[in-house]
Amino acid sequence: MPVVSRSNGSAGAAVAGAEPHRPLTRHYAAPAERSGFVRDLFNGTAADYDRINGVFSLGTGGWYRREALRRAGLARGQRLLDVAVGTGLVAAEAARVLGDPAAVTGLDLSEGMLAEARRRLGDGVRLVQARAEALPVADRSVDFVSMGYALRHVADLGVAFAEYRRVLRPGGRVLLLEIGRPEGRVAQAALKAYLGRVVPALCRWTAPRRRAGQLMDYYWDTIEACVPAETILRHLRGANFADVRCDTALGVFKAYSGRRPLADDDAA
Ligand SMILES: C[S@@+](CC[C@H](N)C(=O)[O-])C[C@H]1O[C@@H](n2cnc3c(N)ncnc32)[C@H](O)[C@@H]1O
Repeated sequence: MPVVSRSNGSAGAAVAGAEPHRPLTRHYAAPAERSGFVRDLFNGTAADYDRINGVFSLGTGGWYRREALRRAGLARGQRLLDVAVGTGLVAAEAARVLGDPAAVTGLDLSEGMLAEARRRLGDGVRLVQARAEALPVADRSVDFVSMGYALRHVADLGVAFAEYRRVLRPGGRVLLLEIGRPEGRVAQAALKAYLGRVVPALCRWTAPRRRAGQLMDYYWDTIEACVPAETILRHLRGANFADVRCDTALGVFKAYSGRRPLADDDAA
C-alpha cells in the first residue's frame, strides 16, 4: 500500500489527562465505565471479529500489517510485544516476519479475544490478559511494541505510551496502526457513511449477532471523536520517543511510529 503523506508533528511535551476521545455517553454513562464497556464489547464480538474486520478493513488485512511492521524496522532476532492482540492479526504477521512465534507476546484485556488469538496463533505465542496502561512486562525487555487499531480504546494515551517506552530497550521501536478521519468534508462524509451505515448493515447481515452492529457503531463514534494525528504525535514525544512520525495511506490508514532513544535516562 503506497504511503501518500507523512507528518512528524510539532515538538511537544507530556500532556496530562490524555484521553483519545471525549467520553461517549451514547455507549457508557461515565468515563470510569469505559474500560469495562470496551472489554465487554470485545468479549461479545470476539467470535465475529475476523468476519467484521474482513468487511471494514478495505483489503488492508494481513499484508498491510506485515508491511507496516517491516517498514517500522521489525527484523529477525527481535522480541515483540503486541498490545491489544485481539484475534492475533498483527501477532501472526509479526511471527512470520520474525520467523519465531516464541519471540512474540500478545496482550489484551478481553479474554474472549485472547481465546480467538489462541486458536489462530497456536501455543507458540505467549498470550497475557492485561491492559495497555499497566503492562506486566519487565523494563527494557522487548525490542518492538506494536498495537493495531486499539489506540482509540485506551483510557489515557500518555499512560499507555509511557508504558511502551518503559518496556522497550533503548533503541527499540513502537508502531501503532490506526484508522483516522480523512481530511476534507466529502471524504469524511464518505467514510462516515461507509463505516457508520454500510459496514454495520453488512455486519448485521454477515454476523447477525446484535453486538457486531454495536461494535461498528462504537467503532465509527470513536474514529469521529478521536484526537487528531498531531495530538497523538505530541503524546508520543511527551513520552520521550524520538523519530516520531505518522505515515498515512489512502487518507485514513495511519501508522504512528517512534524509537526509544539509545542514550536516554528514565528521569527524562
Ligand atoms: C479492534 S481490536 C484490534 C485487534 C488487532 N490488534 C487487530 O489488528 O485486528 C481492538 C482490541 O483492543 C483490545 N483493547 C481495548 N482496550 C484495551 C486496553 N486498554 N488494553 C489492552 N487491550 C485493549 C480489545 O479487547 C480488542 O481486542
